[in-house]
Amino acid sequence: MSGTSPSSSARLSRRTALRGAAVAGTVGLGLTACSPGADGKAAAPTAPVDLGQAEDVPKGATKLFKDENVVVSRADDGTYKAFSTVCTHAGCPIRMLEGTELTCNCHGSKFDATTGKVLHEPATVPLTELKARAKGGKLIVSP
Ligand code: FES
Repeated sequence: MSGTSPSSSARLSRRTALRGAAVAGTVGLGLTACSPGADGKAAAPTAPVDLGQAEDVPKGATKLFKDENVVVSRADDGTYKAFSTVCTHAGCPIRMLEGTELTCNCHGSKFDATTGKVLHEPATVPLTELKARAKGGKLIVSP
């Protein structure tokens, strides 16, 4: 005998599962939408992601959200533009933003964060554009 009755074991499993669900619910949207892909490479959002307060990207600014693999810029008229920061050359996550210029550390590709266009090879394909909008004061980005 192990000392654990089947019913207490079942309760433990259920409790463990509920605790896991509560943790998953707490972290929610961002983690499920931006996890690495099946091959372990960086992944762009595959579902809407809450990036926090919309005002954190003021007019005329550009902000890199490393954990979500997203860059967001806001024009002077208040409209948002967002792009995946998964490099189109070989899939590295881009981690450097200077002004509006994104640099991929893997092989040196550069991109314009406001248009997604390639500024420097080896990448030849622009960054993938995402939809960005403010909703209830939150900045939401989606595929
Ligand atoms: S993966 Fe970014 S430059 Fe090669």
